[in-house]
Amino acid sequence: MIGRATGPSIGITGLGANVPARVMTNDDLATYVDTSDEWIRDRTGIRERHFAEQGEALTDIALPAARAALAEAGVAAADIDLLICATVTPDMLFPTSSALLADTLGMPAAAAYDLLAGCTGFMYAITQAYAMLASGLSQRALVVGGDVLSKILDWDDRSTLVLFGDGAGAVVMEPVERGGFLGFELGADGGGGIHLCYPGSGSRHFDDPSAVLKMNGREVFKFATRVMVSSAAAVLEQCGKTIDDVDVYVPHQANKRIIDYAVGKLGVDPEKTVINVDRYGNTSSGSIPLALADARAEGRLTDGALVLMTGMGAGLTWGSALIEWTGRSD
Ligand code: ACO
Repeated sequence: MIGRATGPSIGITGLGANVPARVMTNDDLATYVDTSDEWIRDRTGIRERHFAEQGEALTDIALPAARAALAEAGVAAADIDLLICATVTPDMLFPTSSALLADTLGMPAAAAYDLLAGCTGFMYAITQAYAMLASGLSQRALVVGGDVLSKILDWDDRSTLVLFGDGAGAVVMEPVERGGFLGFELGADGGGGIHLCYPGSGSRHFDDPSAVLKMNGREVFKFATRVMVSSAAAVLEQCGKTIDDVDVYVPHQANKRIIDYAVGKLGVDPEKTVINVDRYGNTSSGSIPLALADARAEGRLTDGALVLMTGMGAGLTWGSALIEWTGRSD
């Protein structure tokens, strides 16, 4: 699916992010599996990640991010009429984490649902929120992206344990006077789904006692390097922009080598690229909003800045969005 935003201007007016307090370094993980700080840094760029405590679940991590996004937008929770939570690690399958968050935050008027699109979840969710807002069905949306992948990792598998971390981000989306989203590109290839899966999580392998994430790293690497480039190029072309027009590039934070490849192929100035995978690892649906929050903290999300976001992940799925960064209209 590809499209240019032709309706009213819809932007991001509030942004928040949060990670659990517990830091796990590469050396910490080397006490569980046969790995080393040197191997992990060299092959992934990751130095450390945050892992939830035993009793911490997705909504515990997402709640501070959601509150921060609402506060920045100056929006009362009760005025949100749509809450989409992108995650593959909800508190439980149902009740949905979005419904739990809407209740805790106090959003009686909100439609609330969870969205599953692997690490691309946040990109899918902002696209859906855009469509709801642009059509007039929704007036003000809260989009949450977050995961607690530490809960579904195989602590005996060094090829996956070292890659992931926990974290969440949230954005308020609403009409703005100018700028905002320019276009989107989303895709999926279920044929490659087996390369990154969680078989014990649903009705196909309901009795699978392992219930851990499984990944064919080399296949996912090949897929990732391909779609990180093709998706970004497609959305730029659709919006009549070139890579030189982009001020801030926010790629999914899976692996520094994948990001470096995409930067080289796309021809983005590395200075414009946001990288925090070294501190957080791959936080799945939390990755892009966490990177946006870092970009903002570094003063890079200036008024009018053209921001390119691209995600990819389980499904296999991918997605890009282009936004001209603006604040509230009032
Ligand atoms: N420590 C030490 N050695 C390791 C580790 C580790 N943590 N992990 C794997 N190895 C070993 C392998 O066993 C292999 O050993 P062998 O040659 O004796 O068999 C060797 O290192 C090389 O393995 P490769 O898979 O070729 O290593 P590669 O350089 O490709 O890096 C990696 C592996 C980091 C997983 C890479 O393939 C990758 O990043 N893939 C993409 C993963 C990804 O982005 N996943 C998330 C997608 S988003 C989502 O939806 C969740």
